[in-house]
Amino acid sequence: MARRAHQFSWKSAYDTGVAGIDQQHHKIVASINSIHRAIARGADQPTLLSLMDDFIGETVQHFTDEEALMKSAGYGQMAPHRLDHTLLRTRIQNFRRAAESERHSDPGELLAYAEDWLDRHFLGADKTFAGYLHSRQ
Ligand SMILES: [Fe+2]
Ligand SMILES: [Fe+2]
Repeated sequence: MARRAHQFSWKSAYDTGVAGIDQQHHKIVASINSIHRAIARGADQPTLLSLMDDFIGETVQHFTDEEALMKSAGYGQMAPHRLDHTLLRTRIQNFRRAAESERHSDPGELLAYAEDWLDRHFLGADKTFAGYLHSRQ
């Protein structure tokens, strides 16, 4: 019998009120939950890696877009915010490289790290940036 999949739950407090950001955040959370469901149904390694690539792609694209938005908005706190993105970006890219060279890789540890990071970042740096954007309207 398949294990019940762990799910990374969306919190209403994550909503920033900036449509482009919220859409991408939802996509990132959905891509993590696809991986959890695949793990629970015992999916094979190529499937897991392909889903990991979707998650990594969504996340890296989001960071690129959000950083471009910070730049165009003249956001003063861009440097520390980018540095925080770099923490997760580096971690997931290192994971992907390691997964390619080993036959087995467990995404569980990376996902736990990513979920903690995203929870803190959505509620902290991203809400602060969204507040800045709203204050300019
Ligand atoms: Fe961010
Ligand atoms: Fe974000």
